[in-house]
Amino acid sequence: MTAPAIEHIGILVPDLEEAIERWSAATGYTFSPIARYRTSRYADHSNPEPHDHDARISFSREGQPRIELMEVSGDGTHSAAQAGVHHLGFRGIESPEDRIAELAAQGVGVDGISYDAEGRILLCFTEKTALDGVRLELISSLPGPVVADDGSTLPTDPETGRPDMWAGAR
Ligand SMILES: [Fe+2]
Repeated sequence: MTAPAIEHIGILVPDLEEAIERWSAATGYTFSPIARYRTSRYADHSNPEPHDHDARISFSREGQPRIELMEVSGDGTHSAAQAGVHHLGFRGIESPEDRIAELAAQGVGVDGISYDAEGRILLCFTEKTALDGVRLELISSLPGPVVADDGSTLPTDPETGRPDMWAGAR
């Protein structure tokens, strides 16, 4: 199999607006309007039952790999204690379940899974300790629950079929 390239690098920050300013200045990159990955079906070590997860995010236009800045939220995988380089993101994973099984066979577990209403995996993170403090994020090809920062629906990007985080910038 051809191993997929890293699509983005996720960095968890305490203050998203401030981080966008700092990272824009330091890299020269342009960051998207702030959006939210908002779901009521996220499970992680803080609570293995599906629960609310509402992470404010912004992606760089440049890449790949792009830079994803995420604001700390919740008590689990995205809590303030986890700030810093957080994950390497891989998109278009055909079967997250198969990848989870492969990784589990290597001793790499999962901490953080987002499910859709049908119980399918939208994304998952490997556990932080398995790979030297950095997670892998495995993102399925199903569209994720991304909304605008004010909670409104984003238009669908016709190219990707995913919510268009750049809609507000045009
Ligand atoms: Fe990510």
